Amino acid sequence: MINIFDPASDIDLGTPARESEAQVSLSIDGREISVPAGTSVMRAAALLGTTIPKLCATDSLEAFGSCRMCLVEIDGMRGYPASCTTPVTEGMVVHTQTPKLATLRRNVMELYISDHPLDCLTCSANGNCELQTVAGQVGLREVRYGYDGANHLDEQKDVSNPYFDYDPSKCIVCNRCVRACEETQGTFALTISGRGFESRVAAAGGENFLDSECVSCGACVQACPTATLMEKSVVELGQPERSVITTCAYCGVGCSFKAEMKGDQLVRMVPDKNGQANHGHSCVKGRFAFGYATHPDRITKPMIRKHISDPWQEVSWDEAVNYAASEFRRIQLEYGRDSIGGITSSRCTNEETYLVQKLVRAGFGNNNVDTCARVCHSPTGYGLKQTLGESAGTQSFDSVMQADVVLVIGANPTDAHPVFGSQLKRRLRQGARLIVIDPRRIDLVDSPHARAELHLALRPGTNVAMLNALAHVIVTEGLVKQDFVDARCEATDFARWRDFVSLPENSPEAMGPICGVSPDDIRAAARLYATGGNAAIYYGLGVTEHSQGSTSVMGIANLAMVTGNIGREGVGVNPLRGQNNVQGSCDMGSFPHELPGYRHVSNDTVRAQFEQAWGVTLQPDPGLRIPNMFEAALGGTFKALYCQGEDIAQSDPNTQHVTAALSAMECVVVQDIFLNETAKFAHVFLPGSSFLEKDGTFTNAERRISRVRKVMDPLGGKADWEATQLLANALGYKMDYKHPSQIMDEIASLTPTFTRVSYAELDRHGSLQWPCNDAAPDGTPTMHIEEFVRGKGRFMLTGYVPTEEKVNNRYPLLLTTGRILSQYNVGAQTRRTDNVAWHEEDRLEIHPTDAESRGITEGDWVGVGSRAGQTVLRAKVSERVAPGVVYTTFHFPESGANVITTDNSDWATNCPEYKVTAVEVTRVYHPSEWQKRYQEFSDEQRRLLKDRRRTEKVEVRR
Ligand code: SF4
Ligand code: SF4
Ligand code: SF4
Ligand code: FES
Repeated sequence: MINIFDPASDIDLGTPARESEAQVSLSIDGREISVPAGTSVMRAAALLGTTIPKLCATDSLEAFGSCRMCLVEIDGMRGYPASCTTPVTEGMVVHTQTPKLATLRRNVMELYISDHPLDCLTCSANGNCELQTVAGQVGLREVRYGYDGANHLDEQKDVSNPYFDYDPSKCIVCNRCVRACEETQGTFALTISGRGFESRVAAAGGENFLDSECVSCGACVQACPTATLMEKSVVELGQPERSVITTCAYCGVGCSFKAEMKGDQLVRMVPDKNGQANHGHSCVKGRFAFGYATHPDRITKPMIRKHISDPWQEVSWDEAVNYAASEFRRIQLEYGRDSIGGITSSRCTNEETYLVQKLVRAGFGNNNVDTCARVCHSPTGYGLKQTLGESAGTQSFDSVMQADVVLVIGANPTDAHPVFGSQLKRRLRQGARLIVIDPRRIDLVDSPHARAELHLALRPGTNVAMLNALAHVIVTEGLVKQDFVDARCEATDFARWRDFVSLPENSPEAMGPICGVSPDDIRAAARLYATGGNAAIYYGLGVTEHSQGSTSVMGIANLAMVTGNIGREGVGVNPLRGQNNVQGSCDMGSFPHELPGYRHVSNDTVRAQFEQAWGVTLQPDPGLRIPNMFEAALGGTFKALYCQGEDIAQSDPNTQHVTAALSAMECVVVQDIFLNETAKFAHVFLPGSSFLEKDGTFTNAERRISRVRKVMDPLGGKADWEATQLLANALGYKMDYKHPSQIMDEIASLTPTFTRVSYAELDRHGSLQWPCNDAAPDGTPTMHIEEFVRGKGRFMLTGYVPTEEKVNNRYPLLLTTGRILSQYNVGAQTRRTDNVAWHEEDRLEIHPTDAESRGITEGDWVGVGSRAGQTVLRAKVSERVAPGVVYTTFHFPESGANVITTDNSDWATNCPEYKVTAVEVTRVYHPSEWQKRYQEFSDEQRRLLKDRRRTEKVEVRR
């Protein structure tokens, strides 16, 4: 169902919508209306445009009926029922405005106001407070009780949360915050403690909000009708004056936000109720962690230097791009056309990514372009293309609300995709059953009112063995959805696959010991997935970042096909994409072998279309992938790189190898908002623009294209697409876009899955899920409905090949890595926000047994050594990991998580095997040698940057 974007639906209708075929007709204040059965009287009245005063009701939460402000009179009904909790009935006659109701409402309001600070003029909510509004609505003019009775006016504020305050003196105990935390977020961190007059909101699990179980999603702040829960930024800056709808630049959920502004200053980010990916919810990153965008570390002037040991020199944009272009041309003349390349950014917009790959293909004249998806979801692209015919997830996020069984494998949605995590938990609370396959006991395994029926804590690196064992059970126990397979899949491939997975070596009894999971649990999981109704698989980097990442993705697609769990709501194969626009960067042709729309560069017809549009001859052979670029750099044949908005020196595996490759290049051009780790090896720095500073689009994990809208001018003077255009022109390849909408028009004209996409259509619909073309003008929420994109689904053989990374006496533990809610990816953004209050360093999780046998206690410094390198972290002793497994996050460069990860990678796509590294952990007292070198180098680079600020115009040494 396409939800048409409607700004008018911002109006709070009091209670949630109900879906029902049956319509009920009633009369409200003499006007007739028909609404779906189950609708509240309050909502029906609101739909008629009739305002009933309310305090405890809001349409994002189920009605609670506590404030007694919304009383109405109903013919034939005794008393004064609360309109928020009273459902409509056929023929009902409702009166919302009578003298008696006016008196009752005024009396209730009088009680509230007698225990409320009368500081409206100086209150941070002034003008945006529902209590104030309702007091006006009910015509309250005086408070007969005075203000001297027992009250809560002297209660202390809780200011512990870095982003919002809790001022209990203003609390009207409406319970909206508690319900928001339960229903919207699913954390259950709040409760009402005490009874009657003593009732107060309390954060569970701690003395204050910061120490409590609260994850700072902001849902309670959003729900609070008064200034009790209020953003600190609003307290400081005052109420915003205008808002612009845009899209979060953090994770692949792609939440829609209102950027609320005061002049040019961003006051707060409020999740957009009409957002089709988030429906008004958010997480701590998108909601609050936007301070990085104006952080003093932002570099806003272009800089150049000849050697990385030279101080930076600030130059004009023209000087910087001309210098970069002359270096690129010099290097190509000296070392050949293929000696340079580019990396697109999954944080930048579709339009910007498209331009970078166009620059490489048309301006550099080669296909040496790649993107960070190389190190995350490239196996998704490969695996799903082979089996289903399209490199993307099959569903909308909302589809999960139709799922009966959810299988989460190698993903941690509550940390990495939090708003989807909340939606999933909501579905689990409604009764869906959950299987978690993960080495770690992630939050979903046991969260409030939602827990996994089965947690298969497999050994890192054994996903394929597990998937084959699950398939074995389905095939050998007669659980195949044969009519689906016969109708929709290639018969020969199915037969071959069926025979393969039926082999005894793929049975749970054979694979269970390899995975470290009981065969009974594997059998139970397979039966539940195959027979529990609509079954959906959600997976993440714990599947892809392996030497058999692509094999696992194909194994997942096989499971969905063999059980018929694809092609409708509630089922499907759902890759949870990491960065905000990783889907888009792949769609836009960022891979060295594919033009936009996943069409191979060797396809003469496709290439001819682009050649005609771009006015150049394109190369028919795939270019270099990122790891190949590094190898070629070390081999002396790859000499220059244009890297937009990625931090490969931190994010890519085997850091020492990456930095050696960067050091071997003669011209590294980095375009970023900060001097990131890669920029420390750069010769040209072009100031990047944050998502607040440009127009464009992002595509989220459900293929949803959403608008990014500029709310302030680029601090560096240019949006990223403008910088790329300058560079193209300096290289002699003409680009002349006046606005990103023109770039999207070009994308649409050249990409069959985007034919109907335009800014006008996006504004009309709110967002669109591709394919969006003449066959699907409103977009495609669910894929593969009638047939697979490739025609018949193809079962692929998925033989289990153990990783070469093996434990032994020297390296007896397996390290796996992941993310944490409050930090994002390489941390460049979130480390520069108050999110460090929750996570200020990466720690090594180690099981108590492994810790004890090594004499390690909580907080000790421990050396983590692998075959690739060594680093030092502090220990966190935790039963979240199984014995024999250790785990860390990778958000801080000095942690060196990628110093220890190896060069192993997926056989099909080169996606690094981040998730399996054999290590030993020992107690230590000093940083590792790498950390010492890193510190020295970083200090030196920071000094060179600082010196730049003092440097007047100095010529670049040649
Ligand atoms: S904090 Fe706000 S939402 Fe929560 S009970 Fe008090 S007034 Fe209501
Ligand atoms: S911020 Fe979110 S998690 Fe924290 S109390 Fe409010 S609703 Fe609950
Ligand atoms: S869930 Fe993702 S997209 Fe949504 S607010 Fe959080 S980081 Fe942003
Ligand atoms: S709004 Fe209905 S009882 Fe509070």
